[in-house]
Amino acid sequence: MKKNRVGSICLLIILFIFNMSCSFNNSNKNGMGAATITTQHFGTFEGKPITEYTLTNASGMQVVIINYGGIITKIITQAKDSSWGDVVTGYDSLEGYTQKDTPYFGALIGRYANRLAKGKYTIDGVDYSAALNNNGHSLHGGLKGFDKVVWEAAILPGDSSVQLNYLSKDGEEGYPGNLKVQVVYTLTANNAIKIEYTASTDKTTILNLTNHTYFNLTAGKSNTIYDHLVQINANKFTPVDASLIPTGELLEVKGTPMDFTSPKKVGQDIDKVMGGYDHNWVLNKADGLQEVASVYEPISGRYLTVATTEPGLQFYTGNFLDGTLKGTKKGIVYNKHYALTLETQHFPDSPNQPGFPSTLLKPGEPYHQTTVFTFSIK
Ligand code: GLA
Repeated sequence: MKKNRVGSICLLIILFIFNMSCSFNNSNKNGMGAATITTQHFGTFEGKPITEYTLTNASGMQVVIINYGGIITKIITQAKDSSWGDVVTGYDSLEGYTQKDTPYFGALIGRYANRLAKGKYTIDGVDYSAALNNNGHSLHGGLKGFDKVVWEAAILPGDSSVQLNYLSKDGEEGYPGNLKVQVVYTLTANNAIKIEYTASTDKTTILNLTNHTYFNLTAGKSNTIYDHLVQINANKFTPVDASLIPTGELLEVKGTPMDFTSPKKVGQDIDKVMGGYDHNWVLNKADGLQEVASVYEPISGRYLTVATTEPGLQFYTGNFLDGTLKGTKKGIVYNKHYALTLETQHFPDSPNQPGFPSTLLKPGEPYHQTTVFTFSIK
């Protein structure tokens, strides 16, 4: 009896030492912890379970993603005073994300990011009508875009990537072709969130994917983004009419409030733009992945850079936030200009603008776009 007890105690001590040495090895690999992904049940939508994936990298940065809408619900990064904070808008629970008229917080957007005038477009002489949901236009994929569907999710080997898959059926929201979409979110060791989009179709269609994360780099210390310094590598932008449909022109930013060629406080000229910024910038870039924009927030010292393969960037300053959303994180009131988005994309309404880069996707053609958000401290 006594022998047994001594034996058990010895075993416990051995297990304890083994466990300690495992966690010691883990947290000291290269002087830092290993990358991990943990999962948690986040609710049910249309009878399907929704899972929350928490990606943590070696230095402790975290990105949280749910497979409803492929939404980035949290990005937790360090400030220059070493404190950690969540720099994106969102809700405490799934009910927040599924409420009517949520402004696409953190979501994947498709099939067509931003607006299609009157929802109309033509492919090979055939007229199509995408579902209308915005002042007689189609915005962000229509009534039930990719932000409102359940994606199949899988953790990829290496514990730093989550893959999301969605099959958008022929005719869905007024778009032709069975479209297979895959999005891979990766949190890298150097504090970057890489978003890789691939897709294929069995009928010619149009496609313009993006992610709609709203950033406020103060992590709750300021309720506007006026003091964020934004820089966008773009000499031109696409002006819009009163209903935010591009006129088709490419205008020079020089000498206008749209000039962000050097870092500029968002608040400096925002009053000169009706409602605030909600425009597409024509990026100065060649093909391929290139750094195109940055945001610096002086209180926290957080610095965010954006690299993309896309030709355009929708810089939106949360003009329609009005403090009425329910279930927000810790009850935060998201008022106008609380946060900003950097939606890398093809230009709005491209199918109706012959001068804009094409958004057509044909069967057998690859669709591959990448956007990388990298965080650091300055
Ligand atoms: C985009 C649009 C805005 C607005 C938001 C979502 O940024 O350009 O006009 O619709 O999405 O609220």
